[in-house]
Amino acid sequence: MRAVIIRSFGGPEVLEIAEVPTPSPGPGEIRVRVTAAAVNPVDLQTRSGALARAGIMAPRAVTGLGWDVSGVVDAVGAGVTAFGPGERVIGLSDRPGLSLKTQAEFVLLEATAAAHLPGGADPVAAATLPLNALTAAQALDLVPAAARATILVTGAAGAVGGYAVELAARTGARVVAVAAERDAALVRALGAAHHVPRTAAAEAVRALVPGGVDAVIDAANLGIRAMDAVRGGGTYVGVLGSPPPPLRGIRVANVWIRADGERLASLAAAGLTLRVAGTLPLPHVAEAHRRLEAGGLRGRLVLLAEQ
Ligand SMILES: NC(=O)c1ccc[n+]([C@@H]2O[C@H](COP(=O)([O-])OP(=O)(O)OC[C@H]3O[C@@H](n4cnc5c(N)ncnc54)[C@H](OP(=O)(O)O)[C@@H]3O)[C@@H](O)[C@H]2O)c1
Repeated sequence: MRAVIIRSFGGPEVLEIAEVPTPSPGPGEIRVRVTAAAVNPVDLQTRSGALARAGIMAPRAVTGLGWDVSGVVDAVGAGVTAFGPGERVIGLSDRPGLSLKTQAEFVLLEATAAAHLPGGADPVAAATLPLNALTAAQALDLVPAAARATILVTGAAGAVGGYAVELAARTGARVVAVAAERDAALVRALGAAHHVPRTAAAEAVRALVPGGVDAVIDAANLGIRAMDAVRGGGTYVGVLGSPPPPLRGIRVANVWIRADGERLASLAAAGLTLRVAGTLPLPHVAEAHRRLEAGGLRGRLVLLAEQ
């Protein structure tokens, strides 16, 4: 079978479509015949070596690419009762740097990292959900439930930010969304009460919410510029490993994605807004990296595994 791998770090040219052995599921695992796998910023960070340099990924001779997957269960390992061959699933491969990940014709997942695809769901659009909706949900978990009346989301037109806006608004929070002018209508449609331009300072947020917001989900990695809009004693949630210091009694947390099949099932059933920027065949992975790196995409590029 074919899989996207790298053997060294660098630009999109280091991406290879390699012929590799089809893996067998071990105890507790399922083998998924891949329909679609999204391309995310973490794939660029893996390929460039940024994840390894940050100590998040152990370098290996061969590194696989891809976190999200949508496909059909093809075989199950010992002890797996929740899934059977032929069932449509989505899932998350959450260990950085494995030699086989989701951008492949087949992938192994822990059964606990997968969820059934709801009937009628589009498997290509569904491939854009696992990594970023789970990250947004797990980021919101880090904000105390009793103190989330107003939530600021930066990078609100992006994948993590978009889901964060939608999920936060559904909890009843008043959401302030930082996004480019051209995305004002989008973030409002996702549930934001207010749009603040990317170029605006924290004062623009504080003009809307005197004293500052209860919490920020900083999906654009603005750091102190985002924290500046949070009230004393509020919460800052970052998505990278280097958040600002806990100034003014602000709780500083960082979300680290972890697979959670049950949560994924509820997110898949929640009718969230799924955005596909385009589809490409698996062998065109380098083009997907170039387009994502160029910026300005709305929605995810999704690789289709041809078989
Ligand atoms: N810790 C974890 O477990 C975890 C999990 C998933 C993702 N992440 C990280 O979360 C981040 C967001 O991921 P994503 O998939 O949502 O990325 P994305 O879809 O590319 O969205 C990022 C958004 O941030 C905006 N942005 C970029 N620079 C900005 C700036 N200087 N000011 C304001 N907005 C800015 C972008 O706007 P434009 O497109 O207009 O530039 C875009 O809307 C990435 O760093 C990713 O690696 C972390």
